[in-house]
Amino acid sequence: RKKIGVLTSGGDASGMNACVRSVVLYGISKGCDVYAVYEGYQGNRGIQVDGECVLGVVVDGSLVDGGDYIRKMDWRSVTGYLSIGGTSIGTARCMPFKTREGRLQAAENLIKNGIDSLIVCGGDGSLTGADLFRSEWDGLVRELRGADRITQEEATTFKHLTIVGLVGSIDNDMSSTDITIGAVTSLHRICEAVDSVDTTALSHSRAFVIEVMGRHCGWLALMAGIATGADFVFIPEQPPSEDDWETAMCTVARRHRDLGKRKTIIIVAEGALDRHLKPIKVDHIKDVLTDRLGLDTRVTILGHTQRGGSPCAFDRILGTVQSIAAVDAVLASTPETPSPMIGMNNNKVTTKPLMDAVRLTHQVAEAIESQNFEKAMALRDPQFLD
Ligand code: F6P
Repeated sequence: RKKIGVLTSGGDASGMNACVRSVVLYGISKGCDVYAVYEGYQGNRGIQVDGECVLGVVVDGSLVDGGDYIRKMDWRSVTGYLSIGGTSIGTARCMPFKTREGRLQAAENLIKNGIDSLIVCGGDGSLTGADLFRSEWDGLVRELRGADRITQEEATTFKHLTIVGLVGSIDNDMSSTDITIGAVTSLHRICEAVDSVDTTALSHSRAFVIEVMGRHCGWLALMAGIATGADFVFIPEQPPSEDDWETAMCTVARRHRDLGKRKTIIIVAEGALDRHLKPIKVDHIKDVLTDRLGLDTRVTILGHTQRGGSPCAFDRILGTVQSIAAVDAVLASTPETPSPMIGMNNNKVTTKPLMDAVRLTHQVAEAIESQNFEKAMALRDPQFLD
């Protein structure tokens, strides 16, 4: 009889609850016991689980602490989960898991609880941590055995750790998948907010500079710009080609005003850069619009409203179908199978090596730093150049 654990990690994203629900319900329907690891990598200590295999679903947090943080789930545990935003089993950006001692503790907690498989739902940071944990597993087990923290039998039984990654992030910044769980809901939130700003901008004939999240990724900003008809968008992946981007922006804004527009909307990704890779600041944009065009300008930073609210239908579906694939991947895994990441490519659920996705995601950041933007886009989406 299989035993499955589920965990969410890193910044919450709408649709994580759909993942947990789906792992629980599908896992149980496949004859598994399912455990939720509360508070992500932080909480995995102390629970006793009998049986030969435990699959943990991690939504970033409780793996290090264990104890009460690991709870057995049944059908009723996830009632109503589909429509709830965020993650009901909690999440954290777990600092101890970033240290080897923290990961050693997490490994001991897993082994002591009989868990040899984890489903981790989180962003690139969480999945990088998961991949590191998997790659170190051998050494961690040997170290635990050497220090007599686990028995020889446990060391033999838990020789391999299966980790399956589900990409939960509003940023849509993970390579090798077209879309991440939570990104579309967040985009809806941004569009609603920009629509609201639009009416007041129109009333006063004002300009608004709106900052959106996304960390080093401009997907939310770019898509929001298209979906709301913004006048100008700044994203990290395509910095303005000229030093004097202020003039380029003002020319566009002026032209739109001359055509009769009563409002000016500039959307800025929080990671936006100029061509020298210096951050482009919303207050500076405001000053430029005020001083050069005489526009009455306000700044709106959308902040964490972008992560809130009920998941849209797409994220409920994405979380549900990808989690079914994640459970199937755990059940099908062998010691030789590389840890998979469940993605979505060309409208199909895909399974790719987690290691490769993590490596490519880091290479994207390097390519942006070296201003090779075409390479960055190709690494994030290998079909980009096709
Ligand atoms: O990665 C998701 C994200 O919302 C980013 O877009 C943002 O930069 C960051 O997390 C904010 O993190 P925190 O919630 O820890 O402030």
